[in-house]
Amino acid sequence: MTVISGADELLDAEVYVDLREALGTPLYLKCEGFNFAGSVKLRPAAQMVAAAQREGLIGPGSVLIESSSGNLGVALAVVAAAKGLRFVCVTDPKCNPATARLIKALGAEVVTVCRPDATGSYLAARKEYVRRRCAQDPACVWLNQYENPANWLAHYENTAALIAKQFPTLDTLFIGAGTGGTLMGCARYFREHRPRVRLIAVDSEGSVNFAGAPGPRHIPGLGASSPMPLIDADLPDEVIRVPEAEAVRTCRRLAAKGLLLGGSSGTVISAAAGWLERHGVDRSHTAVAIAPDLGERYIDTIYDDAWVAEHYHHTTLDSLERQ
Ligand SMILES: Cc1ncc(COP(=O)(O)O)c(C=O)c1O
Repeated sequence: MTVISGADELLDAEVYVDLREALGTPLYLKCEGFNFAGSVKLRPAAQMVAAAQREGLIGPGSVLIESSSGNLGVALAVVAAAKGLRFVCVTDPKCNPATARLIKALGAEVVTVCRPDATGSYLAARKEYVRRRCAQDPACVWLNQYENPANWLAHYENTAALIAKQFPTLDTLFIGAGTGGTLMGCARYFREHRPRVRLIAVDSEGSVNFAGAPGPRHIPGLGASSPMPLIDADLPDEVIRVPEAEAVRTCRRLAAKGLLLGGSSGTVISAAAGWLERHGVDRSHTAVAIAPDLGERYIDTIYDDAWVAEHYHHTTLDSLERQ
């Protein structure tokens, strides 16, 4: 039995789904959605706040501020509420409406930056807002997940170490990249402790995290419109880029089996399933993928037919009906 006294305490439910049954794919899915923030982002949120407290950056009147497409916002709202701190989440219209409501329900302020910057980047516009607000209000503390080493260290010390412990014979690990915190933490851990493990980074088509041209993306979490400073593109063995429509199809196939997962999980699973099939792995191969969150937050987006029809080619829905 696990008993906690604060919502920000790191729970590792250590739930892995063997996808052989649901998808016919020899892949273990590490499900990160079973904590009070509902996502993998509780680890970096807790670690970044702890590091800022250790460094004396946070005092009793401090206001935490962060730019987030959603899940880090929820996680920081949980951590801030548990510690009695104020929190301002700066997001943009791509944030799921349900996620913004969640952040507010946790007592945080939500600022939606409605216009991208001159280059079309919402991220740049969000960061600009954060800088302005910090300049106006000295109580504001920007944790800056995009450059904060505590972001990737949280995964080096926890996510990766837990996977290594559970899978002593791990061959291949699939990790999605948004800020790159999960990817870099896992990549550095396995390069140092288990260099034989093959590390596959997964990105969305339209993201520039690993080169490529920017394009429209609608699923929050994975990808970036400008390269993320934390990412060392030389660390993964391979990078797989997945079209969002394919991620939606995978999510819906899994939902039909009762596994309601978030959009980035669908992206990572799509990449992993394709890779494992192309490489014709046998039963002795051990592969793990990280599923950053569950699907309830996406009920009005990737699980909504009208939203899918509006955002992707009509064949996405047609092919779903044929599955
Ligand atoms: C749903 C989801 N998937 C993936 C990621 C990417 O994680 P990271 O920022 O560690 O690269 C995030 C980050 O917010 C996320 O919310």
